Amino acid sequence: MAQPRDIDSKLAPTVEEGVERLDEQHIFTTKTLGFLIHPNIPAPSPTAKIADIGTGTGIWLLDVAKSLPPTCQFTGFDATSSSFPESSTIPSNVAFKIQDMYRPFPPSELEAYDIVAVRFTSSGIQRADWIRAVKNLMTLLKPGGWLQWIDSCNFALYNSVPGTSRAACQEIYDGLDSFRAGDDLVLGLMMREGRNLRREETWRGLGLEDVHEDVFSTDRLQEPELRLRDKGTRNIVECFVGCLESLVGVEGSGWTTQRIERLNAEAMKEVDQGVYHTLDQVCIVGRKPAGDGAEKHGGENE
Ligand SMILES: C[S@@+](CC[C@H](N)C(=O)[O-])C[C@H]1O[C@@H](n2cnc3c(N)ncnc32)[C@H](O)[C@@H]1O
Repeated sequence: MAQPRDIDSKLAPTVEEGVERLDEQHIFTTKTLGFLIHPNIPAPSPTAKIADIGTGTGIWLLDVAKSLPPTCQFTGFDATSSSFPESSTIPSNVAFKIQDMYRPFPPSELEAYDIVAVRFTSSGIQRADWIRAVKNLMTLLKPGGWLQWIDSCNFALYNSVPGTSRAACQEIYDGLDSFRAGDDLVLGLMMREGRNLRREETWRGLGLEDVHEDVFSTDRLQEPELRLRDKGTRNIVECFVGCLESLVGVEGSGWTTQRIERLNAEAMKEVDQGVYHTLDQVCIVGRKPAGDGAEKHGGENE
């Protein structure tokens, strides 16, 4: 899950993401939110163009593509192609491109998209970086187009059986300080929100309209027979362990492969004994102004 807080950052090394973990995370997230595209965004027209930023394996984009007419077009952008799907498996109306979300997009992409979606691109993004990214992504939107940003925060650990330990899970989470470095963090898996961060106001300040934020807790997942709580906790521990592995060999980090392996084994035993996590899944949407004389973004529900 986690990436360095900024692609330019020297504080935290890049994390190689497991394809299976990302795809499993997609299932938990979609169940937690209950949607792929926020219901405040009008249903896309049959000619809609949709972009997914930090697309990873493209699992969100490919699922959206399945749910819309084949005449829609979909582009997944990512700073690296390492998780892109095999080209032979990609539908003809879907494309994947290498692109850093902080850098200017090619002219052919500007004002080309009805919906631009971002999910889980940062472990802890500073407001200034977030503003930079949002401004850059707004250049992709047609007038009246929508931006959707989904990310996590407020990780917490709980016991479900009295007297059991959650020390290893906690030590893993606490070891991730370099991923939450920086002032004025506004969103991301590694951060806890100590006060109202007024994310909606930041988006309104950038000129976005109809801005709305929803926050869903993962404790919304209530199907005990599917063991979603248990599987979701293991998924996040795997993610955190992957982040710690990237710190092995970093001077002063204190992380070794042996320490991580030991903690991982202990953490999984804790989860066996009922330790679980919750996270908040934050979804913010906003619309680029339609502009003078321009048609408001055309959706079939409008
Ligand atoms: C945790 S994965 C999430 C993948 C996908 N969005 C999902 O929800 O399954 C984070 C992805 O964001 C990408 N990413 C991180 N920083 C980025 C940046 N500055 N520009 C573009 N992609 C970035 C990473 O390469 C990685 O594929």
